[in-house]
Amino acid sequence: MTRAALRCAQLVGDDAVGIIGGWAGLLEKDLRPITFEDFEDVIGTGGTMLSTSRTNPMKEPDGLDRIRANMAAEHIDALIAVGGDDTLGVAAALAATGTKVIGVPKTIDNDLAGTDYSFGFFSAVDEAMRLSESLGTTGRSHGRVMVVEIMGRDAGWIAAYAGIAAGANMILVPEFETDLEDVVRVVKSRAERHKSGSLIVVAEGVKLGYGGTTEKDAFGHVLLAKAQGESNAAFLARYIEERTGMDTRATVLGHTIRGTAPDAYDRVMSTKLGFRAMELAHAGKFGVMVALRGTEVVDVPLSEGSKKKYLDKSTWDLARHLFV
Ligand code: F6P
Repeated sequence: MTRAALRCAQLVGDDAVGIIGGWAGLLEKDLRPITFEDFEDVIGTGGTMLSTSRTNPMKEPDGLDRIRANMAAEHIDALIAVGGDDTLGVAAALAATGTKVIGVPKTIDNDLAGTDYSFGFFSAVDEAMRLSESLGTTGRSHGRVMVVEIMGRDAGWIAAYAGIAAGANMILVPEFETDLEDVVRVVKSRAERHKSGSLIVVAEGVKLGYGGTTEKDAFGHVLLAKAQGESNAAFLARYIEERTGMDTRATVLGHTIRGTAPDAYDRVMSTKLGFRAMELAHAGKFGVMVALRGTEVVDVPLSEGSKKKYLDKSTWDLARHLFV
């Protein structure tokens, strides 16, 4: 995305500064002049070259005013904010007070209402599929039940897509409740029919475990990855083993799926979004978010970016038909 926006800036003769560490960089004036040359070779690199943080300016005294003042002092005419609902929520608040800002949706969770898909999602799905499939191999070969927990704090998009693609025998997501006895039934059925183990995918957001977790980030989200309690995978593995007597193992994929190299779809999509964000800035159209609708890149009100999108019923029904 940044690479594409910088190429566009180069073509039209704009100067660009990179904001280091997300909103923290604008609060503390941690800025760096950047050019297309700096980013030319990063198309296949995961993560962000500019660093990120969970700093919430709306929790800081005069946070939004400081951002506006720093932008004015640094002669920043327009801002492109790239991130998930938290980042875009701050961007919308800034836009509401007249700051020239354009949002770009980016989260592996794919839980942003304004866009069909957010870039990062399919790359994370690919990695989660590959890792889950590897675990499934052990499950089949050793006759074990392999439980794999996949990120997605509030939504089950990654778990559902990776689970379907990896041929999971059962998938648990936060949007649709699953009776744990149904999990046991599927595991037993596979053991009887195929003398084989099972691959069970559980989304992080189901929150079967994590009982004792209270620590929160600046946006008020519980830090699941730092949870003291039991993970969903550990909880479910224990439950299954107790009821089936089968050797059951738990794996939490956690951040492994987030740092992966972007897939082709995400590379092309983020390039399109970067160019479109710059086109909008030059057209003077602010307070919007670039978004994907079908195969088209469109712009929608920035306020759409902070609304949540949950796994749709048709994908869930499709997945459920495969739980046998
Ligand atoms: O919001 C994206 C996400 O990857 C969630 O799926 C996950 O719960 C969270 O980030 C993890 O955040 P952190 O890196 O702060 O532990």
